[in-house]
Amino acid sequence: MNPQEASIYAPRPATLLQVENLTPQEKLFRLRLDDGCELGQQPGQFVQVSLAGFTEAPISLASSPTRQGFFELGVRRAGRLTGALHQLLPGARIGVRGPFGRPFALEVLRGRQLLLLAGGCGLAPLRSLIQYCGDHPQDFPRVHILYGARSPADLMFQQELLDWRQIPGFSCRYTVDNRPATSCYNGETGLITRLLDEIVIDPQHSCAVIVGPPPMYRPVIAALRRQGLVGEKRIMLSLERQMRCGVGKCGHCTIEHLYCCKDGPIFWLEEIEQLRGAL
Ligand SMILES: Cc1cc2nc3c(=O)[nH]c(=O)nc-3n(C[C@H](O)[C@H](O)[C@H](O)COP(=O)(O)OP(=O)(O)OC[C@H]3O[C@@H](n4cnc5c(N)ncnc54)[C@H](O)[C@@H]3O)c2cc1C
Ligand code: FES
Repeated sequence: MNPQEASIYAPRPATLLQVENLTPQEKLFRLRLDDGCELGQQPGQFVQVSLAGFTEAPISLASSPTRQGFFELGVRRAGRLTGALHQLLPGARIGVRGPFGRPFALEVLRGRQLLLLAGGCGLAPLRSLIQYCGDHPQDFPRVHILYGARSPADLMFQQELLDWRQIPGFSCRYTVDNRPATSCYNGETGLITRLLDEIVIDPQHSCAVIVGPPPMYRPVIAALRRQGLVGEKRIMLSLERQMRCGVGKCGHCTIEHLYCCKDGPIFWLEEIEQLRGAL
């Protein structure tokens, strides 16, 4: 292994600056690299996170590179590593490799009307793009954010959902599948596709980005097509596969001929729609 190759496998130490509870099962971790460098991510990329004694896990960047001096990860407690991360307090040190992966195609999205659709904890990766768009208003003049969660308690970034409505040119609507009888939530209920059917867009000048759980993709894609989003480079989505190396060497993350870690995790719909098991 040459020194350059070795460096992609070596985790860089980072210190936990802040931990915020987002929902009962998700936390936001603010980190800084110990060498003082910026991480240098682009929206849509991920890092491989490590803790001594645990296998690594890929986690998407939840913050935009326009926010300097730190980076943020929104982490759902899913198993061993993410469970251990949830126990950490500010001052703890973790390892990160990356950023890796193909980011959102900002060069195509620039100037278009954007529909940004998130389901569940997919709002964390999408937040890096939302922040980026908000920080470049001249490039992203019209942005519609649509977000669906299972219940009011599962809504992530609740204050930011309101703040994003205040950005000129932005709209932000969210909905929950179920409202428990005891909940004081008085927002919208129903599936995200209902919000999408209600929105008015100019299909010739629009692009959509979808990040969410697999069952969300097909109905959302169908609703986008009803809105007239057809043809190439109109719908971009993020796919998750189990990963090991994160850099296209081990073959753990393949979707037919594509490597999710290297060719993705962000894909144009037409690149993966016909691949078996992709959606
Ligand atoms: C590109 C990418 C970006 C991701 N971004 C985020 C993120 O921003 N926030 C977040 O909370 N999670 C994210 N994930 C999922 C996260 O990597 C897994 O939840 C994590 O690896 C679980 O590790 P663990 O050691 O805690 O769980 P384990 O103890 O290893 O496993 C817990 C369960 O999760 C399953 N699992 C492991 N990896 C994945 C995976 N990639 N997809 C689906 N199920 C998996 C296992 O099969 C097992 O059933 C991302 C995954 C990918 C591939
Ligand atoms: S994770 Fe090793 S090739 Fe993608």
